[in-house]
Amino acid sequence: MAHRLSIGAFGALGRLPVRAAVTRAPMNRPTVRALASAAEAAFDEGAHAPRVEAGEAITKEADYMVATYSRPNIMFKSGKGSYLWDTTEKKYLDFTAGIAVNSLGHADEGVTSVIADQAQRLIHACNLYHNPWTGELSRLIVETTLASGAMADASRVFICNSGSEANEAAIKFARKVGKSTSDTKTEFVSFHNSFHGRTMGSLSATPTKKYQAPFGPMLPGFRYGDLNDISALPGLVTAQTCGVIVEPIQGEGGIHTATPEFMVALRRRCDEVGAVLIYDEIQCGLGRTGELWAHAALPREAHPDILTTAKALGNGVPIGATMVTEKVAQKIVVGDHGTTFGGNPLAARVAHHVFARLADAEMLGEVRRKGEVFKRGLEGVRARYPGLVGEIAEGLKTLEEVLAEHAD
Ligand SMILES: Cc1ncc(COP(=O)(O)O)c(C=O)c1O
Repeated sequence: MAHRLSIGAFGALGRLPVRAAVTRAPMNRPTVRALASAAEAAFDEGAHAPRVEAGEAITKEADYMVATYSRPNIMFKSGKGSYLWDTTEKKYLDFTAGIAVNSLGHADEGVTSVIADQAQRLIHACNLYHNPWTGELSRLIVETTLASGAMADASRVFICNSGSEANEAAIKFARKVGKSTSDTKTEFVSFHNSFHGRTMGSLSATPTKKYQAPFGPMLPGFRYGDLNDISALPGLVTAQTCGVIVEPIQGEGGIHTATPEFMVALRRRCDEVGAVLIYDEIQCGLGRTGELWAHAALPREAHPDILTTAKALGNGVPIGATMVTEKVAQKIVVGDHGTTFGGNPLAARVAHHVFARLADAEMLGEVRRKGEVFKRGLEGVRARYPGLVGEIAEGLKTLEEVLAEHAD
C-alpha cells in the first residue's frame, strides 16, 4: 500500500516525547557475541516469517541511540526499486528516496554487484596512496560536466563523505582564496531558506534558527541575504566577502528557484569583489531537474567557481564531492585539507557507476518525461486546491516537497 510514512524522515510527524535518563544495571550484561548473533537471527532474510515487531525492536534499541530524530513506529529492513518492506513484511511506496539519495532505487542490481565486487578487492587503503577509482571518478565528473555545458571552468574534484563535508571543503577553499588576497577577506554569504549542512561551517551558512540556536555562537563572518533580491547584492557581497554559497533550487525551505537574472547578477558581483561563487547542488543536482546539474539552464556568465554534490552520488553509499575551477585549485596545496575515508575505492567506484547512469542522456530524458507527468498532475491539484501547491520545479523535484509539507 502506498504510504506517507516516508515523510517522517523530514521531521514532519512531530517530536518524540522527552524520555527519562536511562540507568542500566552493571551486572548480567549479555556478551558481545550473544548480542551480535541475536540481531543476526532476528533480521535474517532466510527466515521468511517476520520475527520482529517494529514496536518491540524500537523500544529495545531506542535508549541506546542519541535521540536526534523523530521517527514513526516503523522499521524498514529491505527495499527493491521504489518499494520498501518493514519488519512485518508490509510494503511501502518510497516517496522519500532516502531524502534525494536513492535515485536508482533500492537494491539496484548494478549498484549491488559493483559493491560486492569491490568489497572483495579493496574497500579502503587511505589517501596516503593512490587507488584506481578516486581519480577515475573525478575525471568522469569533470569531463561529463564540461560536455553537458554546465560549469564551464570545471577542472578538479575533492572527494569526501557527505554533503556537509563537501560544503565544508568549499567554505575552506573560498577562505583560502580570499586570504591569498587579504587577511580580512574572510566573510561568507548565504541565503535565507537554504540548507547547507550540520557541521559548524555548513551550519553557519544555514540561517535557520531551529538548527543554529542550540549550538551558537556560529562561526564569525557569515551574512545572510534573500534569494532573488538583486538590489541588496552590493551591500551584502562586499570587498570582505571571500565566498557566496547558493542552491540554484532551494530544497529545505520549500522549492525556491533562483532566477537567471539573480544568478547572473550574483556572479557579476562576486567578480567585482573577487569572491568565490559556490553552487550547492547536493539536493537539486545529479539529474533531479532532468539536466545533469540544476544550473545547466543558466548562461555561462552565471557559472560557479565551485560546485558541491553528494546525496544521490552514491545511491546510499556515503560520498560527497567538491568540484572547483583551476583558479581555485591553484590556491589549495598539499596538507590544506584531507579526509580518512573520502574517496575510498569502494565509495568512489560505486559513485563512478552511479554517476555514469544518472548522467546518461536516456535517464535524463526519462526524468524530464516523468517530470512533465507530475507537473500536469500537480497543476491539476493546484487548480482544485489553491494554496496547496506552490512553485512547481522542473523534473522530479517538487513532489516530495508537497508531500512533506502536507504530511499532517
Ligand atoms: C542542499 C543541501 N546541502 C547540504 C546538505 C547536507 O548534506 P549531508 O546531510 O549529506 O551532510 C543537504 C542535506 O539535506 C542539502 O539538502
